[in-house]
Amino acid sequence: MDTTVTDHLLTTTRSVRKRLDLDRPVEREVILDCLRIATQAPTGSNQQGWRFLVVTDPELKSELGRLYRAGGEEYLEAGKEAAAGNPQQERVISSAWHLLEVIDRVPAMLIPCHRGRPPEGIAAAGYYGSILPAVWSFMLALRSRGLGSAWTSFHLAYEREAADLLGIPYEEVTQTALLPVAYTLGTDFKQAPRRPVEEITYGDRWREPF
Ligand SMILES: Cc1cc2nc3c(=O)[nH]c(=O)nc-3n(C[C@H](O)[C@H](O)[C@H](O)COP(=O)(O)O)c2cc1C
Repeated sequence: MDTTVTDHLLTTTRSVRKRLDLDRPVEREVILDCLRIATQAPTGSNQQGWRFLVVTDPELKSELGRLYRAGGEEYLEAGKEAAAGNPQQERVISSAWHLLEVIDRVPAMLIPCHRGRPPEGIAAAGYYGSILPAVWSFMLALRSRGLGSAWTSFHLAYEREAADLLGIPYEEVTQTALLPVAYTLGTDFKQAPRRPVEEITYGDRWREPF
């Protein structure tokens, strides 16, 4: 395996918001290919409770956009002060605002769902842990084909309204995210600054160096 290529893919798959190509359609086959890759991800007890809803209908995208904006505006307004003075956080907020403005123009939205409602307690780890790896694989598969996305959760503030809109049986199926799907404007994404792993990794005992 060529680690140079895989490491590049793994370290440069960013949340793309400002560089989504809103004018270029995304082929159904490309989305299906990426989902085929996504469903090779692990799930607890191999349950494969994932379900995927791809939304391309302009009216549905517009209604979902309304819910996304409503959730996003509340969240971003609340976080504005905390981000002030932190350039990296300010960039995230500006980028997130941009996506709020254009969300209904993205060629496709993917809503990864999971069967059942999220359980309480320890079972919650298995529940969300059985959808997160697949969605990340989907994002990586998009990136390797010249497309991009961003994991978003804003519309989940109105999950029930979105379920009614899309015919999702709310009591039986949980929406876990909403991903815009589009080709990217350029493909030269970079690594993001992160805290050094040595600082956040411990050895044998909590807070002892590894
Ligand atoms: C669980 C989760 C929820 C997120 N929700 C949103 C969201 O609602 N809107 C948004 O614009 N970005 C959202 N993000 C993207 C993060 O802001 C982003 O991953 C973070 O700023 C790091 O940037 P990067 O992905 O480019 O490394 C979410 C990410 C995760 C993992």
